[in-house]
Amino acid sequence: MDIKQTEVSLAHINDAYQVATMSRETIEQGLQWSWTPERVGRCILSPEINVVTAKHDGELIGFGIMFYGNTKAHLNLLGVDAGWRSHGIGSRLLGWLENCALTAGLECCQLELRESNTKARKFYTSHDYTEIERVAGYYQQQENAIRMSKRLRESFKSE
Ligand SMILES: CC(C)(COP(=O)(O)OP(=O)(O)OC[C@H]1O[C@@H](n2cnc3c(N)ncnc32)[C@H](O)[C@@H]1OP(=O)(O)O)[C@@H](O)C(=O)NCCC(=O)NCCS
Repeated sequence: MDIKQTEVSLAHINDAYQVATMSRETIEQGLQWSWTPERVGRCILSPEINVVTAKHDGELIGFGIMFYGNTKAHLNLLGVDAGWRSHGIGSRLLGWLENCALTAGLECCQLELRESNTKARKFYTSHDYTEIERVAGYYQQQENAIRMSKRLRESFKSE
């Protein structure tokens, strides 16, 4: 598995179905499928949202979706195929999306994730996100969310 061969780039509208399918399989298990191909397609076409993909030999292995507001960015989804985790793909996708927010001059980035998702909570903590609140019933009244936030400007590192 040579992750240097992995290309991280803006999604094309043709990626909508695969991104939505990966969302259903990696993120939305046990919930009603809300990130449908139509919704992901609208995100890909939106000027306020970036959908980024990671591809290996043309095959989708990860993706992220971030909304850019006036002062805040919001990470809607981040997922990596189970067979490709812990190789730095999630960090590359997150960094790519955060750099766009930094370039746009935004102050912070927020996200929500399932309270039970301890692995992802640890992942975001290691990327300087702080848990700021618990949101009861956030996921279709079935599960609580943890809201996390990161100040972007302080974390800027030049390459
Ligand atoms: C959370 C998620 C996106 C992280 O993606 P990932 O590709 O595994 O992320 P990375 O490989 O960059 O980092 C994961 C861990 O692997 C470690 N790692 C990164 N590169 C590594 C390497 N080359 N060798 C060994 N370990 C490595 C990182 O230090 C990190 O550890 P940490 O979590 O303790 O900080 C992924 O686990 C996932 O898709 N989970 C299911 C969906 C989900 O929960 N999404 C988040 C809510 S929307």
